[in-house]
Amino acid sequence: MIREQREILRTELVGSPLSDPEIPAIAGAGMERIDRFLAERRPPTPCLVIDLDIVRARYETLRAHFPKAEIFYAVKANPAQEVIATLAELGASFDVASEGERLRCRDLRISEKRLSFGNTVKRENEIAQAYAEGVALFAFDSPGELEKLARSAPGASVYCRILAEGKGAEWPLSRKFGCTPDLAVDLLQKARTLGLRPAGVSFHVGSQQTEPLRWRPAIENAAKVFQACAQAGLPLERLNVGGGLPAQYRLPIPPLADYATAIDDALRECFGSSRPRLIVEPGRYLVGDAGMLRSTVLLISRKSHHAHRRWIYLDAGLYNGLPETWGKRIHYRIRTPHQGGTSESVILAGPTCDSMDVIYQKAEYTLPLDLAIGDRLDFLSAGAYTASCAAVEFNGFPPIQTYCI
Ligand SMILES: Cc1ncc(COP(=O)(O)O)c(C=O)c1O
Repeated sequence: MIREQREILRTELVGSPLSDPEIPAIAGAGMERIDRFLAERRPPTPCLVIDLDIVRARYETLRAHFPKAEIFYAVKANPAQEVIATLAELGASFDVASEGERLRCRDLRISEKRLSFGNTVKRENEIAQAYAEGVALFAFDSPGELEKLARSAPGASVYCRILAEGKGAEWPLSRKFGCTPDLAVDLLQKARTLGLRPAGVSFHVGSQQTEPLRWRPAIENAAKVFQACAQAGLPLERLNVGGGLPAQYRLPIPPLADYATAIDDALRECFGSSRPRLIVEPGRYLVGDAGMLRSTVLLISRKSHHAHRRWIYLDAGLYNGLPETWGKRIHYRIRTPHQGGTSESVILAGPTCDSMDVIYQKAEYTLPLDLAIGDRLDFLSAGAYTASCAAVEFNGFPPIQTYCI
């Protein structure tokens, strides 16, 4: 325990262009609570620790910046029961992607009325079951999905997802979801003729969206759909501006106020006085900074006598907690127990026998030369899309454990 506490005092954040005084402000008191938990409980690694106080604080900040919006938490970002229950207590609604997520909410006695089935690719029997149990809001982006909804959730409220550019996002959702605005207009009208209730439009400008102005063109497109539908005698009510709000990784991000202002300005300019009811659907923003992923160094090696970069192999990798490092996308801030001394460029890799399981190779990370086998390596702001994306048993490694404090 004493060694562990000393380690905490001597920790160093590496690979961060943020200056030291900024780091405590970003990490906040939650880091201390997480550190205390880890020092006292010493759970096996790799593990993810979530500070629910930070989740609460994030929700309150979001509510303050979007006072009129309904907040639907995207459960996929972190489906830990405690996270869902905490947000439910605060009044959040929930975006669920599957029956599994819906049942998690139901097990916590969250009313189905507070759920939106937001995946545009659903199993028809899951639609039917969700509707029978009270879910009233469903997403679609294609005629095929609309027909499933009409058959299995007759009379349900439905919203159409339109395509949005992923530029500016560190994890773009590309062109997999959504349809063009003109197709959305036709589909929303078709929804009405099929006996469904067309509620509105949604989009997602890409996850970890670092440029607040990227909401603007998407809102413009949504407004065109609203206008065309109104002209066809089909008034729409709700606009879902998706997720995309960022967590604090290695690079500085704009403050939440900039996102709220950009979205508000675009709504005013595109909708004037006939603003729709607003839905925000954050995942990463609410839980990202609330989590720390602790790993252990399993091996340090060089590939030749003269190789200048060390390979650092950890017990966490692409398959058990760090999938978003793939393709140099998400750059976590990393903390080691060593401070001062020389640091050198490293390649970080996970523990499986798969050559894809390399965490950072092209991204430039330097770690202290003092780093040794058995040392802890902490990934900060790792509360989103880590444990929830871990493989179940790849190479025999168990899924990463989450502890909520
Ligand atoms: C439909 C939908 N809504 C919301 C989100 C949450 O996005 P983020 O975590 O970027 O806030 C996602 C993420 O993939 C999504 O698919």
